[in-house]
Amino acid sequence: MNKKNIYDLAIFGGEVTFSKPISTSNLVKPSIQNFLEYSKIFYQEQRFTNDGPLVKLLETRLAKFHGSMYCITFANGFWSLVSSIKLLALPNRSEVLMPSLTYRRLADVVAWAGLTPKFCEINEETLSIDLKSVENGISSKTALILGAHPIINTCDVIGLCELSRQNKIPILFDSVESVYETVNNLKVGSFGDAECFSLHASKLINGFEGGYVTTNDHNLANQLRIFRGFGFYGQDNIVSFGINSKLNEIHAAMALASFDDLENQVLRNKKKYRQYQNLLADIKGLKLKKFNETDKSSFKNILVEIDNNWPLERDETIKILNAEGALVRSYYHPALHTRKFNFPVISGKLPITEKLSKNHMLFPCGDQVSDDQIETFVQLLNFIQMFSNEIKLELECLK
Ligand SMILES: Cc1ncc(COP(=O)(O)O)c(C=O)c1O
Repeated sequence: MNKKNIYDLAIFGGEVTFSKPISTSNLVKPSIQNFLEYSKIFYQEQRFTNDGPLVKLLETRLAKFHGSMYCITFANGFWSLVSSIKLLALPNRSEVLMPSLTYRRLADVVAWAGLTPKFCEINEETLSIDLKSVENGISSKTALILGAHPIINTCDVIGLCELSRQNKIPILFDSVESVYETVNNLKVGSFGDAECFSLHASKLINGFEGGYVTTNDHNLANQLRIFRGFGFYGQDNIVSFGINSKLNEIHAAMALASFDDLENQVLRNKKKYRQYQNLLADIKGLKLKKFNETDKSSFKNILVEIDNNWPLERDETIKILNAEGALVRSYYHPALHTRKFNFPVISGKLPITEKLSKNHMLFPCGDQVSDDQIETFVQLLNFIQMFSNEIKLELECLK
């Protein structure tokens, strides 16, 4: 990094550090040879979609990987969630209990399923939905509990499953961010009534786009298959309401090739995480959120908490870094309960969620970011800290 004074920062007209931006998206690129080998299978068989050979193979491998009886693929994670909510929700009830500090469109998912999101508080340590808040939110209107895993580690799977059992309310997990994680040595994907995942290019397993549901419930698995394929059962036989959200073969080929590379990817991720751990240790005010290493972790995301020792506001910091081509992002900000929606939601005061939505950010990670770039990125952070007083004055002038 060759910046000498604050006017070398891109935000004040200096040269951009990363001319090819480095992002927080995973963007794993499996071996093209492997991807093409898989693709030849469906091409030769002329089965391009509608439960083709690669979709079936992928579903078998993913079910085995997660230790679940069934895996049903979808065109994306979004519709896998909508479908699962729709099929699992208790009839004649309207509310879904869910965290507010989570995926920016998770409330929309619930609304597409025809239900009302009811936002719960999160746990300050784990950043995941708080058990007490879920318990307090349960009423005669509760149709479903939607537990979403945070971006690192897992939510309280065991506690939530117990609450669900005691209150006879179905539980679904949004496990998009916890593909590789285990809880008490059991794989995420084997818990609750069902769990939903994404195969988007930014996620751990890259299928370009795609999603899947894991479940141990035979009936639910059948219903999901029918639902994702227009409501058809067999040929020309419409048995239920449905959508078209089938995964096609080219996406399955990419997902299979990425899946083959998964163990190596986790090792690469872990190396980057260790590098960040070492380099950030000396920077005051930035605390790297730790992966729980007593269970399995993908080490994919680099999440950092800012405290009062960091001299700039979180959003100012992001602006400066973004200008340098480091596409740092805030962590799930704004919290969902503070946003305006054009559908009904149930919100209360959630002070912990609000606080944490303002002091976390995600750093560049994944297959596109090299060790050298991580080093340069951290040098940039050191530079910002060292010249923070001058930077603040100059930012004032820009206002
Ligand atoms: C936590 C979470 N849930 C659901 C989704 C939706 O998945 P997809 O992009 O495959 O529709 C995302 C996507 O970013 C996500 O991060």
